[in-house]
Amino acid sequence: MKTLVIGTGGREHAVAISLSLDPAVTEVHAAPGNPGIADVATLHDVDPMSGTAIADLAVALGVDLVVVGPEAPLVAGVADAVRARGIAVFGPSRAAAQLEGSKAFSKDVMAAAGVPTAGSRTCTTPDEVAAALDAFGPPFVVKDDALAAGKGVVVTRDRGEALAHAALCMSSGGHRVVVEEFLDGPEVSVFAICDGATAYALQPAQDFKRIFDGGRGPNTGGMGSYSPLTWAQPDLADLVLETVVRPTLAEMGRRGTPFVGCLYVGLALTDSGPRVIEFNVRLGDPDIQPVLALLESPLGGLLAAAADGRLADVPAPVFRDGASVTVVLASAGYPESSSKGDVITGVDRAGQEDGVDVIHAGTALSGGDLVTAGGRVLAVRAVGTDVAAARRTAYAAADLIAFPGLQRRSDIAAEPLGVVEGASLR
Ligand code: AMP
Ligand code: GLY
Repeated sequence: MKTLVIGTGGREHAVAISLSLDPAVTEVHAAPGNPGIADVATLHDVDPMSGTAIADLAVALGVDLVVVGPEAPLVAGVADAVRARGIAVFGPSRAAAQLEGSKAFSKDVMAAAGVPTAGSRTCTTPDEVAAALDAFGPPFVVKDDALAAGKGVVVTRDRGEALAHAALCMSSGGHRVVVEEFLDGPEVSVFAICDGATAYALQPAQDFKRIFDGGRGPNTGGMGSYSPLTWAQPDLADLVLETVVRPTLAEMGRRGTPFVGCLYVGLALTDSGPRVIEFNVRLGDPDIQPVLALLESPLGGLLAAAADGRLADVPAPVFRDGASVTVVLASAGYPESSSKGDVITGVDRAGQEDGVDVIHAGTALSGGDLVTAGGRVLAVRAVGTDVAAARRTAYAAADLIAFPGLQRRSDIAAEPLGVVEGASLR
C-alpha cells in the first residue's frame, strides 16, 4: 500500500512513523512534511490547502491512501478533491468537517443525536450574549463559532471578560459566538476511527492544554499527553462509542453527510457522566502521539479500511501493555507568538534513547542546522512499562535537547494522574 500524509506537524510525523512500521505499507509520502518526517517518508513541496494540488500529487504518485492530518485542509474540502479522483482518503468531507468547523453546527448535531454535552446558546448580538451568560451563570464559557486554532475559547468567572471576548469574536467578521454551560471534571480525549457507519475507539488519552505547570497560563495546542488513563473507568471508550460516536454517525448519515475519518471527542468526566466539550474531525495533537505508540494493530490497514467503508471487516484495534508519555518542547513566546530560527541541539542523541521518538512539530533546516520554525517545536515521546516509567524516560531524553527560549512543562503525566487542569477553572 502506498500512502500520502498531508500536513506539517507532530501528528503527521507520528502518523508517518506508524505507517512506516506497517508491513503492508510499501511507501510513505508526505506533503509538505517537515525535517523529522523526512526520516520516514518522501517529502513533496505541495500546498496542503489546495485540493487540486494534493489530488494531482496523489494521482501522480499512484497512492492507495491519503491521510489528511490538520483540520484546515479538511474544512477547505481537500478530502473531497482527492475522493473525486477515486483515491481512498482518511478524513471527512468538507460538509462533515463542519463538526469541527462550526461550533454551532456541532451543537446542533449533538442535540439532534441526543449526545450528552454542555447546554449552549448561539448568539449574534451582545444582548443575546449577556442574557445567555446570566442564564448559565459563572464560570462563563464563550466560544468563537468558527475555527480559531485553539484561541477562540475563554473560560472565566469575570463577566466583563466574557462579554469582551464575545465582542471581539463578533467584531472579527460578524462571527456568531456560542455561550455554554461550564462542565466540571477531568478532560479526556477519545479518538474514534469511523468509516461513515462503523466506528472503533482508540485507547483514551489526556492532553495538558495550558502553557505552565499546574495548569496555569493560557491555553495552547497541547503541551504534553499520555495514555492509558489507568484511573479512568475501564469501559470509557466503549461508553463514548455508544453514547456519543454511534448516535453522531447515525445523525451525519441521516443528513446525507456521512463522517469518514477520526472523530476526536473531547470530554469532561462530570459527576453526571462523560459529556462532550467539543468535536474535532482529525487526530489530536499531541494526544494521539502516545496512543499511536501503543497501537499494536497496523495503522495503514486500519485507516485504509475506514477510508474504504469496510471497517467492520477488520479486527478492532489492539493496544500493547505499558504506557506512553509525550512532552512538548515549545519555542520562546508560545502561545502568543513563536520564535523562529533558534538552533536546536541534542535531537539525535535524544532519539537514540531506548523507547524514545523525537517527533518534529515545528522545525526547519537552515544551513545544515535544525532550527525552530513554530510554536510547538518538538515532542519527545517515550514508552515504558507504566506511566511513571514512560514519563522518566521522556523527560530524560527531553533533557538532552536544547534551544534558546525552550519552554516545556515539568508536570506532564505527573501524579495525581486523574486531576489535570482539564475543565477546571484557573
Ligand atoms: P474547545 O476549543 O472547545 O476545545 O475549548 C478549549 C478548552 O476550553 C477545552 O479544552 C476546555 O478545557 C475548555 N472548555 C471548553 N468548553 C468548556 C465547557 N463547556 N466547560 C468547561 N471548560 C470548557
Ligand atoms: N491537543 C488538542 C488538539 O489537537 O486539538
